[in-house]
Amino acid sequence: MLRLKDKIAIVTGGGAGIGKAVASSFAHEGARVLIAEIDPVRGESAAHEIRGLGGEVAFVPTDVSNLHDVQAMVNIAVKRFGGLDVLINNAAIQMHGRDARAHELSEETWDRTMSINLRGTWLCSKYAIPEMLTRGGGSIINIASPTGLTGCAPTYTAYSTSKGGVIALTRIMAIDYARDKIRVNAIVPGTTDTPMISTLLEDSETRAKLVAKAPLGRLGTGEDVAPLAVFLASDESGYCTGGLYLVDGGMLTA
Ligand SMILES: NC(=O)c1ccc[n+]([C@@H]2O[C@H](COP(=O)([O-])OP(=O)(O)OC[C@H]3O[C@@H](n4cnc5c(N)ncnc54)[C@H](O)[C@@H]3O)[C@@H](O)[C@H]2O)c1
Repeated sequence: MLRLKDKIAIVTGGGAGIGKAVASSFAHEGARVLIAEIDPVRGESAAHEIRGLGGEVAFVPTDVSNLHDVQAMVNIAVKRFGGLDVLINNAAIQMHGRDARAHELSEETWDRTMSINLRGTWLCSKYAIPEMLTRGGGSIINIASPTGLTGCAPTYTAYSTSKGGVIALTRIMAIDYARDKIRVNAIVPGTTDTPMISTLLEDSETRAKLVAKAPLGRLGTGEDVAPLAVFLASDESGYCTGGLYLVDGGMLTA
């Protein structure tokens, strides 16, 4: 039995890393998936790969921080697939070398990070929710981060603050839409081996330090996160809303 049969899902940032693994697992479980991705090469190639595995998937070039892009992307999902059941707010950036301690941080880095990570999460939700209300329910899954809960990434002021905002947004939306049967949850991945942190991982000392922070003794992968996203998207999680779900190798517990 396919766990996401007849579900229609949008995965933002689905061209790489965690988003690509989630999009692939969703398609494998029977969902029709729209990848909303800013990088056309990544978006096309992820869609091509997933289609090759038999999945039903579309790619729409989208900047999640742009209202018109988001509005158009949601419209395309609804027109092409017939509605919307699941939104994964996964797209985000981490501005290595530019994010900094508060007094050293530029306005530009703060604004850009907030605009994609936090405003983008809100904007995609804003346009997805009316479609879910029409369907009588839905599931929104926000990808947060340990940095939104603890000071575990010194100097990443904008990134950490944006992820704290994503957690607050998850909670308020969970409460505001509970009676509408729209469930809103957040996944908190630990350090995950994806293009987002590839420059950090190139340095073997940094890699070893990051591995050492995870009691399970390794970095996470997109494939570690995807099964939890499948659960939260499926009807199996029908009594779960407002939750934060860790996939962090024990990092936050240590
Ligand atoms: N990698 C980690 O260690 C880690 C840890 C905790 C949380 N996260 C979170 O997990 C999520 C996925 O991260 P990842 O590591 O897979 O990142 P990634 O950089 O590997 O992939 C993110 C994708 O989002 C796309 N994207 C960037 N800006 C966009 C925009 N404005 N509009 C649409 N798409 C855009 C990128 O092109 C990329 O394909 C993010 O929310 C990230 O903050 C990652």
